[in-house]
Amino acid sequence: MKNNFFILVILFQTVGLALSTPQKYESIFNFGDSLSDTGNLLLSGALVFPVIGQLPYGETFFQHATGRCSDGRLIIDFIAEAFSLPYLEPYLAVKQGQSSPHGVNFAFSGATALDAEFFFQRNMGSILWTNNSLNVQLGWFRKLKSDLCSDNESCDDFFKKSLFLVGEIGGNDYNYAFFLGGSIKQLQSMVPSVVGAIANATSALIEEGAVELMVPGNFPIGCSAVYLTLFESPKKDDYDRHGCLKAFNGFAKYHNNQLKQALDTLRQKYPHVRIFYADYYGAAMRYVHAPLHHVL
Ligand SMILES: *[C@@H]1O[C@H](CO)[C@@H](O)[C@H](O)[C@H]1NC(C)=O
Ligand SMILES: *[C@@H]1O[C@H](CO)[C@@H](O)[C@H](O)[C@H]1NC(C)=O
Ligand SMILES: *[C@@H]1O[C@H](CO)[C@@H](O)[C@H](O)[C@H]1NC(C)=O
Repeated sequence: MKNNFFILVILFQTVGLALSTPQKYESIFNFGDSLSDTGNLLLSGALVFPVIGQLPYGETFFQHATGRCSDGRLIIDFIAEAFSLPYLEPYLAVKQGQSSPHGVNFAFSGATALDAEFFFQRNMGSILWTNNSLNVQLGWFRKLKSDLCSDNESCDDFFKKSLFLVGEIGGNDYNYAFFLGGSIKQLQSMVPSVVGAIANATSALIEEGAVELMVPGNFPIGCSAVYLTLFESPKKDDYDRHGCLKAFNGFAKYHNNQLKQALDTLRQKYPHVRIFYADYYGAAMRYVHAPLHHVL
């Protein structure tokens, strides 16, 4: 079952992003899960998903396994390319005092938006791949900050030219709970907490000096192979005309709508910053609607 986590990643690895902003970023700081992990889980030595250390992982682009949960590049790699920046270095590869001026990647495969404690308190702790939640990743960023810039003014200058990506994250919080048998109705009550964790991390980064932030939503999980397999239904009515499970896509939209509202609140609180919502749901749906248009 665990292997299915990453089918999403492979399926959506080529989602292109058209950032129409004229802003030229000099660095990128990324927080998230397997959708954007460029090596942290593998470097950590955790044995939860060792196959990412071997081909076919990495085979179509890097020609060797990099720790990405994909045979090729991830969305974050295409974003780096779009700004003519090097691929993001995983945090666990950064040697003390030697972090790249072009940014660092804190994303960790299997990571949740909510802290591990949340899951342990609800008897879901044993399914977690990792405790390296969004808050843990923020802690790593704070530890690294003194390597990047020395005082408030130089940090502000540096971060003004940086793009901060908060997610995608939160998808695993729901994956773990759904895979343990939680119902959609039960999981809806989790959404405000997950969205709250993402919004809190976003405001924490703003307090640290971030002014350009992108926060992606969740994918149409009802179209993903793992959900289609685990939650196969005999009722034709449960599927939309593309063969996706309507209720799970509805759940992803429910999360995304709350996230968009939370980002609106942050925009009001911090009028000097730019917060982009990245519509991964809509981008992925283009593949579902017209897969043949997107064959490489
Ligand atoms: C993960 O977090 C739980 C709950 O906070 C804790 O009991 C456990 O020891 C942690 N595991 C690791 C590997 O840090
Ligand atoms: C830097 O910012 C922090 C928090 O905003 C503040 O407490 C501190 O006094 C500032 N330091 C300088 C040197 O301005
Ligand atoms: C977000 O921050 C608020 C205010 O500090 C806190 O009350 C709340 O528990 C936090 N939510 C999460 C999910 O961390």
